[in-house]
Amino acid sequence: MADVRSICAIGARGQLGLHGVLPWEGNTGREFVADVERFFDITRGHVLIAGPKTIGAIPDFARGDRTLFVIRSHMDPEWVLSQFADRVVYVGGGPAVWDVYARFIRHWDINRLPYDGDADRWFNPQWLVAGR
Ligand SMILES: NC(=O)c1ccc[n+]([C@@H]2O[C@H](COP(=O)([O-])OP(=O)(O)OC[C@H]3O[C@@H](n4cnc5c(N)ncnc54)[C@H](OP(=O)(O)O)[C@@H]3O)[C@@H](O)[C@H]2O)c1
Repeated sequence: MADVRSICAIGARGQLGLHGVLPWEGNTGREFVADVERFFDITRGHVLIAGPKTIGAIPDFARGDRTLFVIRSHMDPEWVLSQFADRVVYVGGGPAVWDVYARFIRHWDINRLPYDGDADRWFNPQWLVAGR
């Protein structure tokens, strides 16, 4: 079985996304820049599975040193994870993905950023206690 983890950044009330990008996109504050760097450091060498929009937002420079895999709603999660049995697999969202894959996630890495504006994608704390 893959070592299934998740990494995400949220705002003060669980904000995850806005208009297809991070709600704090373009913010050059120290915490925001450090968060992006940390995301690429932690996922380097591992597998990142996520929905089409989230994978599509990974910049070219980060595509060579990790395995990216676009998951779709018709795919069986157990089959997806079985493709990476001996790897560390990060489940990268979005929310519809976490709704289904949360029950497999052993380790959550959640960075809470100093943002409290609008969002149209939200973190759901129920994901942390999703049973199999
Ligand atoms: N703050 C963070 O850490 C973070 C992380 C990730 C994303 N985001 C934000 O979230 C937004 C993008 O996420 P998104 O949800 O809009 O799009 P997304 O990344 O494409 O993820 C959702 C899509 O994943 C697919 N999917 C794959 N497996 C699925 C399953 N088992 N059940 C249901 N759907 C499944 C579905 O597409 P199909 O039905 O077409 O297959 C679904 O529409 C952006 O605003 C982005 O910035 C933020």
